[in-house]
Amino acid sequence: MSAVLRVFADLDTGVDDAMALAYLLASPEAELVGVASTAGNVGAQRVCANNLALLELCGRPDIPVSLGSLVPLSIPLRTAEDTHGPAGLGYAALPAAHAGPTDYDAATAWVRAARAHPGELIGLATGPLTNLALALRAEPGLPGLLRRLVIMGGAFDYRGNTTPVSEWNIAVDPEAAAEVFAAWGAAVAGGHAGELPIVCGLNITERMALRPPYLAELAAAAGAPGIPSANPLIRVLSDALRFYFEFHDSVGEGYLAHVHDPFAAAVALDPGLVNTREATVDVELDGSLTRGMTVADWAGHWGRPPNARIAVDGPVQVFFDRFRDRVGPFAAGLAHS
Ligand code: RIB
Ligand code: CA
Repeated sequence: MSAVLRVFADLDTGVDDAMALAYLLASPEAELVGVASTAGNVGAQRVCANNLALLELCGRPDIPVSLGSLVPLSIPLRTAEDTHGPAGLGYAALPAAHAGPTDYDAATAWVRAARAHPGELIGLATGPLTNLALALRAEPGLPGLLRRLVIMGGAFDYRGNTTPVSEWNIAVDPEAAAEVFAAWGAAVAGGHAGELPIVCGLNITERMALRPPYLAELAAAAGAPGIPSANPLIRVLSDALRFYFEFHDSVGEGYLAHVHDPFAAAVALDPGLVNTREATVDVELDGSLTRGMTVADWAGHWGRPPNARIAVDGPVQVFFDRFRDRVGPFAAGLAHS
């Protein structure tokens, strides 16, 4: 198996999705082979435009970006402009990309990438699971084709952020999430699952609380100290995060940002970052109060094999140091390109 980690990222870009994208691009061991644009934080076309613009800003317009379904599998789309800003990147303003999306959709992109790199591709999903579910319908063998899957989603023995019990990526498309976990369960039962998906829920990602002084660290690491930074990528990330800070403050979390997605990206490249526990995960679809809840059967009450490895602990400072030490120099390189 090659030392290069080939990654396919499915994003609903989004402020923290943008950080995840930057982290992947800044990680020398990672080769980002494609990006899926999933409706969630904002509409799919806006997500796609954000992905294209960020890749161009980062000097990687060569990486293919695919547009996903405009709506969840079976319910209307809900978006979160209050959280991520009207265009999904807070106060950041990016020039539109010259490149456009692929002529095939996001689900097809998942399948093509997995088939092109059988047993090697690392999947990362940091948005609703709509397009991953559609990819699994097209290619039920996807669990056996992927080397690894890391999902940012759910909340395990922990409250939700969208309903009292549901986390955003699951709440936007609970049916898709249920299909994804069921597909891995079927693959496990059939003996062709490979590694179980690593699921980073709010129970761990809300520990990744980024506070304003960290932005100064990031700017300094990019050789452009001070906020607003003169570095183009740091400027975009800090302008995006400022909106995210204001949202978190408005809901009583404090002037900070829970950066869920770059943590999941770091785990995708280095699963040793987290301690995990196997469980059978399913998604409540019918509860009038609990719809969209990720339910973990830790003890085997359902008699179904585990279909996930739930991240239960991880080093906060190690993650933030790694993000700064990678994205800072990467951003510095852009300023001189
Ligand atoms: O609940 C947090 C998740 O929802 C993150 O992925 C954020 O970007 C939003 O998509
Ligand atoms: Ca996201």
